[in-house]
Amino acid sequence: MSGLDLDTLAPSVAWTGDRIEIIDQTRLPDEFEIIELVSVDAVVDAICRLAVRGAPAIGACGALGIVIGLDERHPEDLPAARSALDELVEVIGSARPTAVNLRWAVERVRDAALEGDTADRLRRMALDEALRIIAEDKDACSRIGEAGRAELTGMTNIMTHCNTGRLATAGWGTALGVIYAKAAAGEPVRVLASETRPLLQGARLTIWELEDAGIDVTLMPDSADAAAMSVGKVDAVIVGADRIAANGDTANKIGTFSHAVNARYAGIPFYVAASLSTFDTAIASGDEITIELRSDDELTAWRGIPTAPAGASVWNPAFDITPAGLITAIFTEVGVLHPPFDVSIPAAVEHAER
Ligand code: MRU
Repeated sequence: MSGLDLDTLAPSVAWTGDRIEIIDQTRLPDEFEIIELVSVDAVVDAICRLAVRGAPAIGACGALGIVIGLDERHPEDLPAARSALDELVEVIGSARPTAVNLRWAVERVRDAALEGDTADRLRRMALDEALRIIAEDKDACSRIGEAGRAELTGMTNIMTHCNTGRLATAGWGTALGVIYAKAAAGEPVRVLASETRPLLQGARLTIWELEDAGIDVTLMPDSADAAAMSVGKVDAVIVGADRIAANGDTANKIGTFSHAVNARYAGIPFYVAASLSTFDTAIASGDEITIELRSDDELTAWRGIPTAPAGASVWNPAFDITPAGLITAIFTEVGVLHPPFDVSIPAAVEHAER
């Protein structure tokens, strides 16, 4: 980790002046390719096929996508610009349903842009707000990392799931932000990363990212989690989140719930790391979270090679809900939230909004 400077690395999502650049995460780890997004269709497509992924990163991409959309539609006056904004919020905000960051970001850009009193000023305010969202996420990641690092003193062996690092955010990441913070502080840290079936965000992305940073990381099948915990390979589990309800129920990548159940059985702490942009206090519990169902062929083939009989009946949820009762604490940019979460979460969100 020594000497790794985030500002020298390609960001997951960048604004070049007239277009968005993203790292195409579908191509990693075999190829590192940066692609340009110059239309709303391209933005929505990139989000849907997970070329850009991870709740904060899709929020960032969606926010900039509003600006791309305004440039593409080129509204001639203020009413036309306002109506384009509404349309863009719907089109981009519904590209993926579970991560609240996407809709939160596009609505935040819309609300800021509506302050503009000409079409040009509306567009400028949209861009400023999108860039502010990205800067804030970068800062939030550093704070989350530090909050988690302080809490995990003395814990070396960390299990994680999916990819929650610099590919998934504008900064060092959420759960991986804690890992990076430990490494930067010179504390020993070893990561056990689950492969994250079926799209292998753990195997392809987390392993690539942590190896690149010189952090000790070992890949395991998702189904090895209970075994790893039972033989003392895990001091704590840290995962990210796509939406956290007011009571602490947490939507995250499919398989997260299993890790939490197994951690409870093994007596191992289970932490969630997320920025406040991932909290949805408008919903009381995880029952109200829409879980994205993805296409059958993500399970029946891998890059065109069949992995199941053609025509197999498939259930492919992208996320699950970990009940709040299985979560030890939540690391955020405003500190560590403890149970009862139906008290600590609304208090933290209200305090941050003031
Ligand atoms: O389907 P993905 O790859 O976008 O799912 C991502 C996750 O579930 C992450 O854990 C979550 O977005 C947090 S990223 C900081």
